[in-house]
Amino acid sequence: MLIIFNQLMRYLPVLVVIFFFIACTAQLKVPTSLDAQRGANRWENYDSLKLAEGFSLYKNKCGHCHNLHLPKEFAKMNLDSVMIEMSLKAKLNAEQTASIEKYLWVMMTDTL
Ligand code: HEC
Repeated sequence: MLIIFNQLMRYLPVLVVIFFFIACTAQLKVPTSLDAQRGANRWENYDSLKLAEGFSLYKNKCGHCHNLHLPKEFAKMNLDSVMIEMSLKAKLNAEQTASIEKYLWVMMTDTL
């Protein structure tokens, strides 16, 4: 019994890291075609592919200095001004900035 316990304790730090990793990433919802539809209602030629691109850019460019904010959190802020400030910090070009901003708008207007 003690041996099993000792074995478990040896792996405890690893388990804790895995737990936090799952807990932190699980909250960021993977966009669905239903989400993309909200974008398509707002912008011409918007689709799931464009939304997936924005999602991937967001994950790759916006989580280096701080944790990724959940899209819903942006609803309380001024999305335009946050993006102007953070696009400079993340060194984004205009296209990447627009793609991330659209992703955030689509996901923050998710009412589910
Ligand atoms: C180079 C580091 C860096 C990168 C990259 C970065 N941020 Fe930030 N971000 C910061 C710092 C520092 C703050 C806090 C101080 C401030 O508001 O300027 C912050 C604050 C924020 C806040 C909180 C603002 C508020 O009013 O409470 C949001 C939201 C945010 N960042 C979103 C983003 C998004 C979206 C991206 C990707 C486009 C991004 N950040 C990329 C450094 C960064």
